[in-house]
Amino acid sequence: MEDLILVTGGAGFIGSNFILQWLAPESTGVLNLDKLTYAGNLSNLESIQSNQYRFEGGDIVDRGLVCALLTREKPRAIVHFAAESHVDRSIHGPDDFIRTNVNGTFSLLEEARAYWSALPESDRALFRFLHVSTDEVYGSLGPSDPPFSETTPYAPNSPYSASKAASDHLVRAYHHTYGLPVLTTNCSNNYGPFQFPEKLIPLMILNACQGKSLPVYGDGKNVRDWLYVEDHCRAIRKVLARGRVGETYNIGARSEKNNLEIVGAICQLLDGLRPADPVVPHNQLITFVKDRPGHDRRYAMDTRKIERELDWHPQESFASGLEKTVRWYLEHEDWVRSVTSGSYRQWMAKHYASER
Ligand code: NAD
Ligand code: TYD
Repeated sequence: MEDLILVTGGAGFIGSNFILQWLAPESTGVLNLDKLTYAGNLSNLESIQSNQYRFEGGDIVDRGLVCALLTREKPRAIVHFAAESHVDRSIHGPDDFIRTNVNGTFSLLEEARAYWSALPESDRALFRFLHVSTDEVYGSLGPSDPPFSETTPYAPNSPYSASKAASDHLVRAYHHTYGLPVLTTNCSNNYGPFQFPEKLIPLMILNACQGKSLPVYGDGKNVRDWLYVEDHCRAIRKVLARGRVGETYNIGARSEKNNLEIVGAICQLLDGLRPADPVVPHNQLITFVKDRPGHDRRYAMDTRKIERELDWHPQESFASGLEKTVRWYLEHEDWVRSVTSGSYRQWMAKHYASER
């Protein structure tokens, strides 16, 4: 086995942040397998100087490719981010979610099992398959329900969360049945640099700067627990290094906010940073639009397990993380331009069509 990790989906939002963090001076090799869907952007990784990093274009569903990569590269771990990740897209078209999230995870697990089974015994004990998942598999909470813990029963409500739940179950079964050394992380909503601007926070930042409406679904009171992406990446590294095989770890910031609070905070930051924008104060742009079908009301995470076992705690507060994020989008106009062409415009036109 080589001192190398195989990352899937490393050109997406969280995967690229993870690779950038991983390649900080003392780290070892990374091979990034990514299909480069609309959500994958190699420009996220263009600052990398290290010769420890390589990219391989390809689909995780392609078992021949995954098999060849594992045989050739002999990684000591797979860190699996690749997925279709946007709930609204899963409502418009669930097929790709089943294909990548369910069949793709299955392909990886099968090929990882074959590779791992053939390793010498000492390497078998060291190998890890880390599956990156979401809090959305647990369903929706009422206002005074306790947060989701690792033992909360699964109750996914969208095609996205159902496909992630299915993949989590497969990962669990591969440990239980075959002994594959897996780890699963379930994390709350992330925000930060390189997030594709169809998700709430970057969408609102970019629309507000351009004087476009800020489309808040329903009454804007849906609650999420927002974690700065680099804190998520630090948690994944800890779980990979020291997590107990076969276990799942919930990750979150203990920072519950409703959508109106988020959009209001973005507007307030922009009022200070961009006083000459077309519409100021920016919160005049807030527009209530038709709700998302099946919209989960509240997510919240009980993170005591990862805090206790791995001494992980978020380093960023919501205020500091949001300010960093807003500034990042304002300072990276070229990146924004490069990802908001063709298919992005089509999505925006289709999803936010006038009847909403
Ligand atoms: P993203 O949509 O930004 O990136 C997904 C990446 O996977 C892209 O680079 C894409 O090209 C790649 N990909 C998609 N299908 C592929 C395939 N068939 N083969 C190879 N590559 C493929 O997603 P993200 O927000 O970075 O999320 C990464 C992971 O973290 C996902 O598994 C997601 O479920 C999970 N997660 C995300 C959040 C969040 O708030 N974004 C929170 C918790 C968990
Ligand atoms: P999103 O970023 O899509 O993450 P998720 O649905 O996976 O939690 O959305 C976060 C919240 O923001 C969710 O409650 C839906 C809401 N939302 C809006 O109100 N308007 C929008 O335009 C978008 C994209 C999301």
